[in-house]
Amino acid sequence: MKLLVTGGAGFIGSNFIRHIRNTYPGYTIINLDKLTYAGNLENLKDIEESNTYHFIRGDITHPELVDGIVADGIDAIVNFAAESHVDRSIDNSRIFVETNIIGTQVLLDSALRHTVKRFLQISTDEVYGSLGETGYFTEKTPLAPNSPYSASKASADLLVRSYFETYGLPAIITRCSNNYGPFQFPEKLIPLFITNALSDCQLPLYGDGLNVRDWIFVEDHCRAVDIVLHRGRPGDVYNVGGNCEQTNRAITEHILAELEKSEELITYVKDRPGHDRRYAIDCTKLQKELSWSAKYDFTTGMKETVAWYCDNKSWWEKIKTGEYREFYERWYGDRNSL
Ligand code: NAD
Ligand code: TYD
Repeated sequence: MKLLVTGGAGFIGSNFIRHIRNTYPGYTIINLDKLTYAGNLENLKDIEESNTYHFIRGDITHPELVDGIVADGIDAIVNFAAESHVDRSIDNSRIFVETNIIGTQVLLDSALRHTVKRFLQISTDEVYGSLGETGYFTEKTPLAPNSPYSASKASADLLVRSYFETYGLPAIITRCSNNYGPFQFPEKLIPLFITNALSDCQLPLYGDGLNVRDWIFVEDHCRAVDIVLHRGRPGDVYNVGGNCEQTNRAITEHILAELEKSEELITYVKDRPGHDRRYAIDCTKLQKELSWSAKYDFTTGMKETVAWYCDNKSWWEKIKTGEYREFYERWYGDRNSL
């Protein structure tokens, strides 16, 4: 199989490429990534010399570039490339529309033109909007995105659906809950709080800290994507979740306990606008139809994650002195004024 993975230099994409490399050594992998602030070739240093792995720096919104790559005998496309941070989408949504929607449309067009056998769109549970105290998202839950990020992902999902219905493109969508694990950019809750705590900086908890997310270790997500890529039904949607609901406050306490740091590092800051209260995902379909289940429980996954950030300080220290810092300071500068 010759796989085109987009966004493979980011958090989940790089973990997925490593998973495919270890599971199917005979596959050829093309990684197309623009290397935005979130893309980092250090994430794949261990495999960059392999002659069945090829990196191309480029933008998925450029039709000629994408078409040239897909024309060269690609069997399947897995689209991870995206602007992925909700706070950045609140700050400026334009690039979210360009990459997440137009980029997906460009990939779909090329897949169709060159009769790619599988198109896998990596989506998110955030397209379903927010839950109250009870209930779960199923694949039939209506889309009700609340942030510019989730709205752009939902729009891409609708385009993917339309290419299956209209042209018969063998496209599949996965919608996963919040991932955590090695190589996650330290703007997302878990890596931000681990790295801040290691540096004895404040942990900015939004609102009352009681918003709930469902957490999954990244390797479990990568195995799910692998299974859906090989055995999923074209035209279908598959939810992926860790069956692990946690409040942000509980996650924060867990991190501080793991690192033996004081809870005095917690700072409550002004809430994120439009902040979804609760996500919880029902992934029975994936479990029953494709026999997938999560292997990591939260305690084990978090131990591994905290240990990785402790052992890889040079990876995140470099990042935290770069462009990210400007966004961080602007965002928290504003948000701290309660
Ligand atoms: P990330 O921000 O770490 O990585 C995104 C990657 O896409 C980066 O390497 C970036 O350089 C690349 N990219 C951005 N714009 C591009 C463009 N125009 N052309 C080519 N490459 C481009 O994101 P992530 O957390 O790894 O998420 C990957 C995918 O999974 C996204 O589609 C996201 O919506 C989805 N997802 C993420 C989570 C999560 O918890 N992180 C959960 C569910 C779904
Ligand atoms: P995040 O990692 O940004 O993922 P998402 O918004 O896509 O779920 O945030 C996870 C939760 O943590 C979310 O409820 C917002 C909250 N959060 C904070 O309280 N403080 C922070 O500094 C960040 C980045 C997130």
